[in-house]
Amino acid sequence: MSNVLIAPSVLSGNFAEMGSDVKNMSEIGADWIHIDVMDGVFVPNLTFGFKMISDIRPLSELFFDAHLMITKPIRYVERFVAAGAELVSFHLEAETDVVGALGKIKAAGAKCGLAINPDTPVDALIPYLEKLDLIVLMSVFPGFGGQKFIDGSLDRTARLKQLRDKYAPDALIEVDGGVNTENAASIISAGADVLVAGNAVFGAADRTAAVKALRG
Ligand code: DX5
Ligand code: ZN
Repeated sequence: MSNVLIAPSVLSGNFAEMGSDVKNMSEIGADWIHIDVMDGVFVPNLTFGFKMISDIRPLSELFFDAHLMITKPIRYVERFVAAGAELVSFHLEAETDVVGALGKIKAAGAKCGLAINPDTPVDALIPYLEKLDLIVLMSVFPGFGGQKFIDGSLDRTARLKQLRDKYAPDALIEVDGGVNTENAASIISAGADVLVAGNAVFGAADRTAAVKALRG
């Protein structure tokens, strides 16, 4: 079994069951809870904001990994930390003051991450790598759960691992989008430390078995 961390995305659950789904995540053996925040501008979908995070915070002791798919996240990152996110990631494509936004997250007391879309060169991350706790490699275009893993993402993960090992050996690589029990092993061998899994967990008849299978 690998040491990979499994981070189910609550986006793929039924929002009417959010509380029980969040409680259920530790019972099924998940490591983190991945929380997808969308603003309808950076991505063509809307989800929820800080209040959802502060409302579900008391329901789980798992690590809260907030993935912000919002324009100009620097305006809001501190509020996500205050709401209970232990790690806040935002998109390189969505912010002009990347260093400023990363600094605000750290100053607020959380870990910080930077995400890139499938069409952004991995090497564009180089100037920021040493500041990061998490690097989020999107393996689908963000906006919706249940999409198909983009094949070139394996090579991108391998390239990112080379860069991570060189510039930011303590940072974790998270692969997000279209991860399932069939492709998880190859994503882990390419270099992923954290697998986000929406449909693969919430669409499974047996969530515990799904989490176990994703670990490889
Ligand atoms: C996509 C989100 C992902 C996604 C994961 O915009 O950032 O976290 O919902 O869901 P699956 O695993 O179903 O692709
Ligand atoms: Zn995500």
